[in-house]
Amino acid sequence: SENQSPAGNQQTAAYDSAFLKACRREPVPHTPVWFMRQAGRSLPEYLKVREGIPMLESCMRPDLVAEITLQPVRRHGVDAAIYFSDIVVPLKAIGIDLDIKPGVGPVVEQPIRSRADLARLRDLTPDDVSYVTEAMGILTGELGATPLIGFAGAPFTLASYLVEGGPSRNHEHTKALMYGDPQLWADLLDRLAEITTAFLKVQIEAGASAVQLFDSWVGALAPVDYRRSVLPASRKVFDAVEGLGVPRIHFGVGTGELLGPLGEAGADVVGVDWRVPLDEAARRVGPGKALQGNLDPAVLFAPTAAVEAKTDEILDAAAGLEGHVFNLGHGVLPTTDADALTRLVEYVHTRTAR
Ligand code: CP3
Repeated sequence: SENQSPAGNQQTAAYDSAFLKACRREPVPHTPVWFMRQAGRSLPEYLKVREGIPMLESCMRPDLVAEITLQPVRRHGVDAAIYFSDIVVPLKAIGIDLDIKPGVGPVVEQPIRSRADLARLRDLTPDDVSYVTEAMGILTGELGATPLIGFAGAPFTLASYLVEGGPSRNHEHTKALMYGDPQLWADLLDRLAEITTAFLKVQIEAGASAVQLFDSWVGALAPVDYRRSVLPASRKVFDAVEGLGVPRIHFGVGTGELLGPLGEAGADVVGVDWRVPLDEAARRVGPGKALQGNLDPAVLFAPTAAVEAKTDEILDAAAGLEGHVFNLGHGVLPTTDADALTRLVEYVHTRTAR
C-alpha cells in the first residue's frame, strides 16, 4: 500500500509521533522514550511465549515476532517499538552457519578470515527474509501511531562476530585482519555494508518508521583507525538509505572519543552511552543531529529516587539540544525490574510535558 512505500512515509500514522518529531529535531509534546533491548529480555510474558523455541527460530515466526515486539509497548507505554530480531539474522538468512547460544550470543561455526571465505557472504534478497516483511505488515497495522524501529548490525560489529567466530572481549582476530590485510578487510566491510543496506531496505519497504544501525563494539577502536577502516563502510549504509523519509540512528558503546567521526558517518540521530553527558556529546557530534540516550542501564537497580535524580541530570544536560530521544546508554540488562522501566517512562513523560 502507499502507506508502506518509503517515499510515502510522511503519510503514515506515526509521522506526527513525539519520537519521529524528536528525530527530525522538531518541537515535541514530551521527550519520547524507548529502550534498547526492551523486547525480549526479562519480561515474564516474553519468557512465556519463548518457552522451548530457540532464539533464531523465534525470529523467523511472524506471529511470535509481532507479539514480542508489542509486549513492551503495552506494558511500559514507550514511544516506539523495536522490531524483535537480532543483528545476525541477515547473516543466517544468506546461509552463514551460525547460532545464538543462550547466555553467550552469536556463534559462527566457520569464522571468516580469508579471501576464499568472503565468497560465503552472498547478496541478501527480500525473499531471504520474507518473514520480516510479513511480521512488519502485522506490526504496522497493530501499532497504529506508534513508530516501529527497524535495525541492523553495522559492518564492524558484524565483522567482529564473523571473524572471531563469537563474542570477543579484545577483537584480536578482527584487528589482526584489519591491520594485516587492509584490502581484504575493506572488501569484507564493503560486502557487509551491502548486506546491511539490503536488510534495512526490506524493513523500510515493509513499514519501519526509523532505522538504527548498531555498531555496539566499535568503541574498541581509536579514532584514526575508525576513520580509515570503518567509517567508509558505515557511511555507505547511511547514504544508501538517505532520502527515504526514515530517520537513521547510529549507536555504539564506549564511543566518547568517536562521537565526532560517528557524526560524520551520516546518521540523523546519534546514540550516546552514559560515559559522556549529552551537552558535551552534542559538542563532539556537531550540529544538525538529534541525540539519543543516555541513562546507565545499571542505574535501574538503584532505588526510584536515585533513578529519578540521574534522569534529571540527563534531562538537564539535554535541555539545550534540538532533538532528544530518551533511552538507556546500552541495552536493558537481563535482570532489570520491569516496573522500574515503566516508572521511568512515566517520569520522563511527566517531567518533560510541554
Ligand atoms: O532491542 C530489542 O529489544 C530487539 C531485539 C534485539 C535482540 N538483539 C534480541 C536478542 C536487538 C536490537 C538485538 C541487537 C543485538 N544483538 C546487538 C546490538 C545491541 C547491543 O546490545 O549492543 C548485539 C551486539 C547482538 C548480538 C547478541 N545477540 C548478543 C551479544 C546476544 C547474547 C546476549 C544477550 O543479549 O542476551 C544475543 C542474543 C539475543 N538477542 C537475545 C535476544 C532476546 C537472547 C536470546 C536467548 O538467549 O534466548
